[in-house]
Amino acid sequence: MTIDKIRRDYKLASLNKKDADLSPFKQFAKWIEEAIKANLIDASAMSISTSENNKPSSRMVLLKGYDESGFSFYTNYESKKGKEISANPNVALLFYWAELERQIRIEGRIEKLSEKESEEYFKSRPLDARIGAWASQQSKVISNRAYLAAKAAEFATKFALNPPKPKNWGGYKVIPNLFEFWQGRDSRLHDRIQYSKNNSTWDIDRLAP
Ligand SMILES: Cc1cc2nc3c(=O)[nH]c(=O)nc-3n(C[C@H](O)[C@H](O)[C@H](O)COP(=O)(O)O)c2cc1C
Repeated sequence: MTIDKIRRDYKLASLNKKDADLSPFKQFAKWIEEAIKANLIDASAMSISTSENNKPSSRMVLLKGYDESGFSFYTNYESKKGKEISANPNVALLFYWAELERQIRIEGRIEKLSEKESEEYFKSRPLDARIGAWASQQSKVISNRAYLAAKAAEFATKFALNPPKPKNWGGYKVIPNLFEFWQGRDSRLHDRIQYSKNNSTWDIDRLAP
């Protein structure tokens, strides 16, 4: 089959304005809990798009926490995404659960988590991940894989079982002002329910697919 022939019908479910929760956070919780319950691989993975000088870039990260205050993940603050975030705090998140025929778009502003929150999460990571945070100067050009392995070995010896959190490693939280919940439907007439922040409440609209 050639790539232009790939298409499928969506028929699993629907999303109506009257069934959507009044809170986009509760609607998000419902959908991600269903994705996790369905045992989807990387159900908590999301794309984050950032941009500097009007040049956007995207990559996947793992969602590590969510509540009404926002959506958090962890990374290297000196990475490409970290630099773009310092230049422009407006970001977009994207979740896609193919098996559930669902997509969620989120737009908002991003802030760093506190050092305390980042420390707490860092401590909960497996040892190799904590060493990895030291070994990898994320997004820098390196000569080869052996360089990385040598750095990991160096920090494993230096810190043994207790690597501290590197200063340039920590969390971010995305504070949303727009959500869109997409549910695939028959004949390309998909459901799209958008929540846009209006002072302290959320306006809910249906968008054309
Ligand atoms: C499923 C998946 C999950 C990932 N989770 C993270 C993450 O939580 N944090 C992170 O820094 N990179 C994560 N990565 C790697 C990023 O996609 C990316 O390669 C890295 O953060 C460097 O991006 P940057 O150069 O744009 O900053 C993940 C990649 C995949 C495919």
